[in-house]
Amino acid sequence: PRPLVIAPSILASDFSKLGEEVRAVDQAGCDWIHLDVMDGHFVPNISYGPDVIKAMRPHTKKIFDAHLMIAPCDPYLEAFAKAGCDHITVHAEAGPHLHRSLQAIRALGKKAGVSINPGTSLGAIEYVLDLVDLVLVMSVNPGFGGQAFIPSALNKIRDLRAMTAGRPIDIEVDGGVTSAVSGELAAAGANAFVAGSAVFKGGTLESYKANIEGIRNA
Ligand code: DX5
Ligand code: ZN
Repeated sequence: PRPLVIAPSILASDFSKLGEEVRAVDQAGCDWIHLDVMDGHFVPNISYGPDVIKAMRPHTKKIFDAHLMIAPCDPYLEAFAKAGCDHITVHAEAGPHLHRSLQAIRALGKKAGVSINPGTSLGAIEYVLDLVDLVLVMSVNPGFGGQAFIPSALNKIRDLRAMTAGRPIDIEVDGGVTSAVSGELAAAGANAFVAGSAVFKGGTLESYKANIEGIRNA
């Protein structure tokens, strides 16, 4: 089995003190740091881009797990690599050339991820599995933090686990993840858990620690 990973989504942090927030979740024991990039076009919200990620980079040595909700994505891949992202995940739906985008990420020397929305079937990624290091299963429609978990993600993860059996691919789940569902998600086959609101609630280092442990131990 792949290592268990908790990846706090910085989207739910206090943007007025990003460096401090990054250091806090690092100290609180997170594994990766999840960076949600939104363009107001592929998703109906705008977050931050490579320059903001570059500014966060000196504050931690943990893995920067970038989730690009942008279309097109190809023109920006190099900028995210240079900003210090270790994983670069693109959406299968961002199109039109998913295979080319994944090749480009690998050519930049980064781990390549592919994400699928709740309404997208696993068939969309079937023929690119040899090019991916992680699959990010959306359990909300992307664009906003704090939404309710969509339960059909559980069956999708079960099917994805069978589909990726024997391959070194992380199965990451994103959206509405709390300690109430992380146990079931792990049983279904997810090993990496993105959580925004569930990690940052409380606003203090002590609460971040307890929140991360809660999701991990469930
Ligand atoms: C949604 C983002 C998620 C989001 C998760 O588009 O991809 O990473 O920040 O936030 P929560 O955990 O609050 O659903
Ligand atoms: Zn995300």
